[in-house]
Amino acid sequence: MIPVAVAGAAGRMGETVCGAVEAADDMELVGRADPRLDTAVADVLGDADVLVAFTQPDTALGNVREALAAGVHAVVGTTGFDVDELRGLSGANVFVAPNFAIGAVLMMRFAAEASEHMAAAEIVELHHDRKLDAPSGTAARTAAMMAPAFGGRDVPIHSVRLPGLVAHHEVILGDVGQTLTIRHDSVDRESFMPGVLLAVRRVGSLPESPLVGLEHLL
Ligand SMILES: NC(=O)c1ccc[n+]([C@@H]2O[C@H](COP(=O)([O-])OP(=O)(O)OC[C@H]3O[C@@H](n4cnc5c(N)ncnc54)[C@H](O)[C@@H]3O)[C@@H](O)[C@H]2O)c1
Repeated sequence: MIPVAVAGAAGRMGETVCGAVEAADDMELVGRADPRLDTAVADVLGDADVLVAFTQPDTALGNVREALAAGVHAVVGTTGFDVDELRGLSGANVFVAPNFAIGAVLMMRFAAEASEHMAAAEIVELHHDRKLDAPSGTAARTAAMMAPAFGGRDVPIHSVRLPGLVAHHEVILGDVGQTLTIRHDSVDRESFMPGVLLAVRRVGSLPESPLVGLEHLL
């Protein structure tokens, strides 16, 4: 059994992760950290091998530093922070994914491939109105993966925030007389759970740390 603690446990993603960990045969939920539960990350690390963090951009680095200092591996889903700040940290492994849904990983791969053959592209990302960061981490990573095909030119990103949405990404590629649209929709936070559980199982044996992107575990 892998002992797992969750940071951001009272949040939309954190609650879903707690349920998925509890339902997994090979994992045990040993702690729920969240200011809204009056429980700090430091309080839940003692019994954990892995910390799963879905918190806020301004606390993401602190969550990881605390975990690594305690020798606890970190699986990070929080977006909107500078992943480069994780480089050089040691003590345990860090895995980060801007999107844990398999369909979104495929969208990024297909968009990068399509960029080799089309003249230009733009990305529209649409999320619920409580999302703190813009553009989304997924859109930023998709744009970064497409940029080499466009000679390093930035792929513009448009952000939409509305109630009723969950997490949606549309890559529109254009060329003479045609467009190609690649779209991914997460309509339920359950879409992220298989990827999160996979990362929990694999974070202890990563080839390098930090490792960014679910595609490296597939
Ligand atoms: N990687 C992915 O696949 C994926 C998918 C969906 C959302 N996200 C990201 O996950 C993050 C959380 O999203 P959400 O919709 O659950 O947000 P949310 O606001 O519902 O939840 C965040 C929770 O983190 C808690 N928190 C803040 N600081 C903390 C700290 N220092 N320690 C512990 N808990 C802390 C907050 O109290 C809150 O309950 C966002 O950055 C979002 O962009 C990632």
